[in-house]
Order: sequence, then C-alpha cells, then structure tokens
Amino acid sequence: MLLKKINELPQSLLDFVLAVGRLSDLEKVPVYLVGGFVRDLMLEGKNFDMDFVVEGDAILFATQLARTFSYKILTHRRFGTATLTGREGFKVDFASARRETYAAPAALPNVTFGNINDDLLRRDFTINAMAIRVHAQGVGELIDRAGGKKDLSEGIIRALHDLSFIDDPTRILRAVRFEQRFGFRIEKETHTWIKRSVDDGVLCRVQKHRVRDELVLMFKEKDPLKCFKRLHEICGLSFIAPRFKFQNQWKAYFQAASKRISWFAENFHYKKSHIEPHTMLMGLFFYCLPLGDLKKMMHSFAFHKHETSRIISLKSEFLKVHEELRRKNVKASRIYKLLEPLTYEVILAMTVLSKNHLFFERVKEFLFFYNGQRLHVKGEDLKAAGLTPGPMYKRILNELLSAKIDGEVNTREEELEFLKKMTHQHGCFKTTTVL
Ligand code: CTP
Repeated sequence: MLLKKINELPQSLLDFVLAVGRLSDLEKVPVYLVGGFVRDLMLEGKNFDMDFVVEGDAILFATQLARTFSYKILTHRRFGTATLTGREGFKVDFASARRETYAAPAALPNVTFGNINDDLLRRDFTINAMAIRVHAQGVGELIDRAGGKKDLSEGIIRALHDLSFIDDPTRILRAVRFEQRFGFRIEKETHTWIKRSVDDGVLCRVQKHRVRDELVLMFKEKDPLKCFKRLHEICGLSFIAPRFKFQNQWKAYFQAASKRISWFAENFHYKKSHIEPHTMLMGLFFYCLPLGDLKKMMHSFAFHKHETSRIISLKSEFLKVHEELRRKNVKASRIYKLLEPLTYEVILAMTVLSKNHLFFERVKEFLFFYNGQRLHVKGEDLKAAGLTPGPMYKRILNELLSAKIDGEVNTREEELEFLKKMTHQHGCFKTTTVL
C-alpha cells in the first residue's frame, strides 16, 4: 500500500528516495521518511516537502549523498540538520533522530541523539508521529507507535502526552490549523490539555517569533478565517494584542479579498507572482487595531519587514487615499501619485475596505492605464540640456510624468518641449542652453 503510494510520486522525488535508501543500506545507517510528508502520503494529499530522520549523523549522511549526486547542501551544525536541493529544485531536510527534554515550560528543549522511536514520541500529534524506513528497493513498513494511522482515518488531532502544550505552546495553534485544514476534530483529552495550558498563560510566555511563524502559516491556509474562529473559541485572541477580539466583518473582508486576488490574477497574469495573498489578509485582519497598538504588536512579534510595511501602510494611508479618490473629477496624475507608492496587496486591500464603487474604478484606471507609464526622456536629456544634476532632476521628471499621465504630452518631442517650458519657468539652467 505504502509502496504503491510512494511509487506515485514524481519520478525525480522517487529517484531521490531510492538514492537515500541505497546509501542507507550501504552505510548500514537507518533512515526514515517522517512527519507531514508521511501524513499527507497516507491522506493522498500532495506534499513534496520531504523530511528524513537518520539514526546517526544526519549531516555526515546528507553530505555523502550530496557528493554522490551533486546536490547542493546547506548544513546547520547547531541543530544537527542539513537541507539538500536537488537539480529539479526540490528541497529535502535531514535531521538526526533526537530525544528532547524540556527544562522549563515553553523553553527550548534539551536535545540528545536518540532512535526513531524517541524522535517520533517527541512530536506534536499522533498523525505527525509516523515514519517509513527507506531501503534501496523502496520503502519498508509504517512505524506508528502512537496510533497515527487510526487517528488519521477517524479524523482526530491527538497530542502524545499531557505536557505537550506546556512544553511547546505553539502546538495550540498547530492543533487548530491541522484540525481546520483537514476538517478533523481535536480529541477531548487533548482539548482539555490545551485549555489547561492556555489558562496557565503559556501563550504569553512562549517566544513571540515562534507564535508569529505559526500565525503566518495560518494566514497561508486555504481557509484562514476558520482557523482564527476556532482559535478564538479555544483561547481568545488577546495573546496577539490586548483587547484583540474576533471581528464579524472579517468574513466579508476575507471573501472580498479572495475575489480581488482572483480578479488581479486574471487581469494581470504576468504580475500575479508579485502579490502575497497572506499579507493582504493580514492587513485586513489587523485593520481594526488602532495604529499605535498595531505598530506595537508588529514590533513585538518582529513580523518581517515586507509584511509590517504593508500592514502599517494600509492602516495609515487608507482613509486619506480613499477620501480623495472617491471624489468626482480627480486628475489622473493625482490617482497615480496616491496609489503608485503602495504595493498591490495594499491597493487591493483598500478596495476591500471601501464600499465606494468609484474608488474601485479609480484603482482599475491606475492598474490598467497609469501604472508602469514611462517617459521617453531620461536624466541624460536634462544633462545634455545643461541642467546641473541634482534633486531637481527627480522633481522635473515627476512633473513631466504627471503631465504625460494627464495626457498633456505624448511623444518624445512633446516631452522635450514641455521640459523646455518647465525648466525656463523654474529658472533652473546652469547656462542659457536651450533644449
Ligand atoms: N513538529 C512538532 N512540534 C512542532 C513543530 C513540528 O512535533 N511545534 C514535528 C511534527 O512531527 C511535524 C514535523 O515536525 O510533522 C515537521 O514540522 P512542519 O514542517 O512544521 O509541519 P508539517 O507537519 O510538515 O506541516 P505542514 O503540512 O503545515 O508543512
């Protein structure tokens, strides 16, 4: 059964698994496929993120493999792990089997080498605690000490022991994420353990960047709102920011956001990789926070710069931009000036927040017509005309671009003529050279 499923993998991945198996047999070092990959293989889902556990030195094993097959390798000595990148572009992680003990709740674990059973029993949920041994001829039996296969077939998220969420509170978010992703349910005792650790305040003690990573993963799920609804039910949302509560308008926001993302992808096919849907959702999700609280929260979780800047600019710019662009008779160059500094995620999120039809029309005008307009003339043309290089260049070229967007100039000749008028008006020539 497993052999059949493994054989259905893309050929490049299958070849890789067999190569791992050959080296494992040759070196007599047991190696296993583990975690989410095994879970998704059994669920018939697509997951090409392979994690291997080596009963021995994972870095040494991965290095040998990389040498034999000319794969790129990145090692993390501190964690005893290695990542290989195949010629086909896939990434595969290797880690040594480990045993973990926690000196204090929510602290990082003390790690020692162990065997595959130790490694599986330190994991979050039974469905993620299965392994498959790999050999030269294929794969071996499923190793399932915790009953993951049964829980998978019954749709249950079950932690392995009562201290699981005290040891690692981020597992509370993971439990919710997997439950909602697969349409499973958190098992009763596990639910009690979660509640107990939440009441103990573990979510406020865990390192914030680890909670941040889990939150971002939630925004990347297919239906993030389901996850946040459930999270709110289980532990509230005040661990994210004080007084932060579930907002009823999120449903409409997320639905509209998904429509806008599809609309953008259909109309700007070549730019669809320029947007990160999850940052758009994050902006809308956190929009209800006052700007000061929002900045504090973003800073304390140390969200990535690109996420922070988008989320904050949505909050700080929306009302101003919206107020102006929903008016009648706005010049094209003004639309450009207000929207051009914003990213696509922020612009699209603004159309979600706005109830005004004219505003969306303005955004469309910008995206279809004004965005990406270029001038024929360049800085060299100004230089050639005798204008001293300096900050004035940018001002002049911006003014010219506005004129072009407003339809006042079109050809290179018209641009040059416009420049001539403008520079004389500003009196900014070094000499009396005429353009
Ligand atoms: N794991 C864990 N506790 C955590 C994080 C991870 O026990 N807090 C273990 C689980 O066995 C998990 C594996 O490490 O399957 C890999 O973690 P990760 O890549 O985060 O999760 P996946 O299960 O692969 O989930 P996803 O499908 O979201 O990538």
